[in-house]
Amino acid sequence: MSRVKRIIVTGAGGSPSTNFIRSLRLSPEKFFIVGVDCDEYYLQRAETDLKFLVPGADDKNYLPILKQIIKETQAEFIYSQPDMEVNKISANRDDLGVKTFLPAHKTIEICQNKLESYKMWKQAQIKTPETILINNESDLKEAFSKLGKSVWLRAIVSPGGGKGSFFTDDFEVAKAWIKHCKGWGSFTASERLTSQTVAWLSIWKKGELIVAQGRKRLYWEFGNRVPSGVTGLTGTGVTVCDPLVDDIAQKVIFAIDNNPCGIYGVDLTYDKDRIPNPTEINIGRFFTTHLFFTKAGLNMPYIFVKLAFDEELPDIKKKLNPLPSDLAWVRGMDFEPILTSLKEIKADKDKLNQYLKGIN
Ligand SMILES: Nc1ncnc2c1ncn2[C@@H]1O[C@H](COP(=O)(O)OP(=O)(O)O)[C@@H](O)[C@H]1O
Ligand SMILES: [Mg+2]
Repeated sequence: MSRVKRIIVTGAGGSPSTNFIRSLRLSPEKFFIVGVDCDEYYLQRAETDLKFLVPGADDKNYLPILKQIIKETQAEFIYSQPDMEVNKISANRDDLGVKTFLPAHKTIEICQNKLESYKMWKQAQIKTPETILINNESDLKEAFSKLGKSVWLRAIVSPGGGKGSFFTDDFEVAKAWIKHCKGWGSFTASERLTSQTVAWLSIWKKGELIVAQGRKRLYWEFGNRVPSGVTGLTGTGVTVCDPLVDDIAQKVIFAIDNNPCGIYGVDLTYDKDRIPNPTEINIGRFFTTHLFFTKAGLNMPYIFVKLAFDEELPDIKKKLNPLPSDLAWVRGMDFEPILTSLKEIKADKDKLNQYLKGIN
C-alpha cells in the first residue's frame, strides 16, 4: 500500500467539499485531509483531520496564509470548491508549493464569466439562449423587444445559487430588479428556457475524457421560497444516460477549451424544443451533490485524485454514463441523503393509486 496522501481542501465546511471529503473517505485508500474555510462557523463542520480558518480569497493575506498551512501540514495536493478560490488558486498554481489538477487558467476565467462563455458557444454555433448585456435602460428595452415576452435576468458572475436570477414580462419590474441588485453592467437578459435542467459532470486528462455522468434535477430544494424558483440547491437528482446530452456537453466544453484537463460540470437547461442549452460550465470543481455518484458506485473524487497523482485508476465500467439510469438521490436540510430509484418512488405512488381505487 502506498503512503497516505495529504490533501488540502478549501471551503471544507461547505456541502460540496464535504461530499468530496466523504467520497475520499469511502475510497479504498486512506487519506490525510486538511480542511480550510474562511467562515468560522462552517469550519466547525469540516470532516477533516485538521481544520484551519483562513481569510477570504479576496483578502491580501489569503495566499500567504494558505501557503503557510500547506507548508506546515506538508499537503501535497489542493482541491478547491468555491469558485473564487478555484480562480485564485489557479492563477497562483505554480507558487503554492502543492500539486493542482486544474484546467488552463484562461478556461477558468471564461467559464466563471457567463457572458464570455455565452459568446464562445454562440461562435461555435451551439444552441444557447440569446443573451444581452444590460448596461442601461435602453439595453433592457432592446432585450424585451428581441428576446420574447418574458426575459431571464441574472448576474454574469455567480458563485452558484442562480445569483440575481429573476424572470418577468414587465419592463418596469425588470428595471427595478436590476437597480435593486446594483446589476447595471453586470447582469444579462436572456431568452427564457424551461425549468427542466440536466448536468453533465466530467473528468478529463490531457484533452481526453476519462469519465462523464449525466444527472437531471427533478426540482430545486426550497424552490417555492424564491421568486425565480431557482435556489441552486438541488432537491432530487436522477442519473441519466442521453446521447444528445453527451454530445452537446462535449461540444460545449470544446468550444471553450480544446485541451480539457480536470473537472468540467456542464449545466444545461432544456428549451421548448427539448434541446438542452448550456447555461454555464462549473469549472475545476464537482457539483455539490456528487456524493450521489460515489454512493451509486462512481467515486469521481477518487478518480480525480488518482489522475492528479498519475496513479493507476480504479475500474471504470465505461467512459460515458457508467451508472445505471434512473437512480435517485433525495436530499434536504437536516436529512441524510437517500439513494433510491425512480422505480421505488413510483411504487409508492402506485400503492396510493390502488388505495384510491379502493375508496372510490
Ligand atoms: N435563460 C434561462 N431561462 C430559464 N432558466 C434559466 C436560464 N438561465 C439559467 N436558468 C436557470 O438558472 C439555473 C442556474 O443557472 P446556472 O447557469 O447553472 O448558473 P449558477 O448555478 O451559477 O447560478 C439553471 O439551472 C436554470 O434552472
Ligand atoms: Mg449552475
